[in-house]
Amino acid sequence: MKMIAVANQKGGVGKTTVTMQLGAALSRRHRVLVVDVDRQQSTVWWAENMRDRLPFDFAGSQNPQMLSRLHELRIEYDFVLVDTPGSLEDTAVLETVLDAADFAVIPMTPEPLAVEPTLRTIGRLIDPRHLRHAVLLNRIDARNPAQLHRWQELLDTTLGIPRFDTYLRQYKAHADAPILGQLVTTFRDNQRTAGTIGDVTRVGYEMTAQFAPATAARMFR
Ligand SMILES: Nc1ncnc2c1ncn2[C@@H]1O[C@H](COP(=O)(O)OP(=O)(O)OP(=O)(O)O)[C@@H](O)[C@H]1O
Ligand SMILES: [Mg+2]
Repeated sequence: MKMIAVANQKGGVGKTTVTMQLGAALSRRHRVLVVDVDRQQSTVWWAENMRDRLPFDFAGSQNPQMLSRLHELRIEYDFVLVDTPGSLEDTAVLETVLDAADFAVIPMTPEPLAVEPTLRTIGRLIDPRHLRHAVLLNRIDARNPAQLHRWQELLDTTLGIPRFDTYLRQYKAHADAPILGQLVTTFRDNQRTAGTIGDVTRVGYEMTAQFAPATAARMFR
């Protein structure tokens, strides 16, 4: 079982979006549990809108202490994804999650104001735990390829932070998904959703590859 914390103390960078959509992508080939420890409970609302089409097990409104118990119980999930709060008041909750996690996915939007809080999250909370992590660029402008390259370059050279090669572009389908009760596994595959589905699917493969060979082998079975 690999526990993946989706974390960034910058609000609104896509933690909830990434947790739910990546959980859906991984659930195509793996046993997945999504856990919400955020008081905002955005995933709870989203999960309720999914009704019976939720492709993974879901545990909403959880006390983060339960995460360390999941390890002890050796519960049969391949991946446990945890959506975490973005506010500084909830730092203790986030710390408890990071203590139990095997990997941190750090969604980040290509905005100057996201840089400092992202660096602070990594510097203060993730590095001291020697927790494996990678930034996932989110809300990339599909019509502006230079933007992606600029931000990838910034992460690689100036900031020196590990990142996913894959990324999520900005799509209305992402923004509409919670209220419509949709995930990449339930989207109707058409021209409007193809980019969204493709992006999330690619991130899912890269996430799985982080834990190769054990889980990657399952993927190609
Ligand atoms: N790739 C994307 N394309 C379009 N909209 C997006 C994308 N990613 C996130 N959004 C939208 O941006 C807003 C913030 O995203 P989200 O709620 O996932 O961020 P968050 O980090 O969980 O926020 P918080 O810190 O408040 O928990 C939401 O309205 C979401 O639908
Ligand atoms: Mg959120």
